[in-house]
Amino acid sequence: MSRWNIPFNKPSFIANERDYIEQSLANQHISGDGYFTKRCHSYLEEELGVAKALLTTSCTHALEMAAILIDLQPGDEVIIPSFTFVSTVNAFVLRGAHPVFIDIRPDTLNLDEAKLESLISPRTKAVVPVHYAGVGCEMDQILAVASRRGLEVIEDNAHGLFGKYKGKYLGTFGSLATQSFHETKNFTCGEGGALLINDPHYVERAEIIREKGTNRSRFFRGQVDKYTWVDIGSSYLPSDILAGILAAQLESRIIIQEKRKKIWEYYSAELRDWAQNHGVCLPVVPDHCEQAYHMFYLLMPSLEKRQALIEHLKSKSILSVFHYLPLHLSDMGRKLGGQPGDCPVTEDISDRLLRLPFFNTLSEGEQAFVVESIIDFRF
Ligand SMILES: Cc1ncc(COP(=O)(O)O)c(C=O)c1O
Repeated sequence: MSRWNIPFNKPSFIANERDYIEQSLANQHISGDGYFTKRCHSYLEEELGVAKALLTTSCTHALEMAAILIDLQPGDEVIIPSFTFVSTVNAFVLRGAHPVFIDIRPDTLNLDEAKLESLISPRTKAVVPVHYAGVGCEMDQILAVASRRGLEVIEDNAHGLFGKYKGKYLGTFGSLATQSFHETKNFTCGEGGALLINDPHYVERAEIIREKGTNRSRFFRGQVDKYTWVDIGSSYLPSDILAGILAAQLESRIIIQEKRKKIWEYYSAELRDWAQNHGVCLPVVPDHCEQAYHMFYLLMPSLEKRQALIEHLKSKSILSVFHYLPLHLSDMGRKLGGQPGDCPVTEDISDRLLRLPFFNTLSEGEQAFVVESIIDFRF
């Protein structure tokens, strides 16, 4: 039970989750790559049109797989926004790569594509666009620079499943893309993720890396008569019980996305005038992007006002949160050479952003109370 009257997040199970858990127990295949895992793979491959989808234990692990797949050598550089979750960068640092932090655009909070070219060096191997809040990065420009300069593009699409950029699904632009099914995401199995593979030449090695560096997947398909250790790898497969929960959630895609769209549009409509009158900015979704309705945030005028609003909402038993602390200014980021002023937009936004409660079962009455409490806040 939450101690908050209105928590920030609450997972909800609206369809066949319990039935599918029962079925996976009855199938007596509760390890990875069972019936429900395959069902999730097919669903993602067919809906998104990707060459291959592989469920993983988290988006963090899908990012680690991507970093192994592109064969980074120590000292190689990867361009990553400073305004992101720690896993986006950790996965590459684990392989000995040096992260080069790129600042974000002040409107969508996605990496600033205009700054990309100037950060490329002879050691740059990849760029990692994060589709923040499920709103697409400017992929035309990013892909043009990447192809001219020979960079891999790996999309961190933790927020953006089923969002689109210029009519094409997020996660289908880079050679590789990663998804999260963590409890806070639109579709969840508690902890989970997926690696989406658009460049088919990565498929075979991805299956090996995911299966502890063995060719076990080929063995199960009858393509080899025994399986053995062929590469580096780890155990990145989720249990089929979790895949059952996820399959039920994915199959409820339309209902879930409709609920989230309604919640997002309510906040947007009800807070528009208040925001305008108090110098608060609301999320920007360019016309050429169909967002994934992952989150709703406010950009307050200052750090002090942001903190005061969080406290005010807490006094009404409403939990609102902030993120991300700029990675270039974290302890690790500073060890890697990060300095204040390296990414000024990130530093500013990080102080002012506030995320409102957002989950599938948030009722209109609860939302009205959140909005009323915000409007009630004394500036
Ligand atoms: C942008 C981004 N990438 C990666 C992750 C890591 O996801 P997971 O918890 O599935 O490892 C998160 C988590 O919220 C995230 O926000």
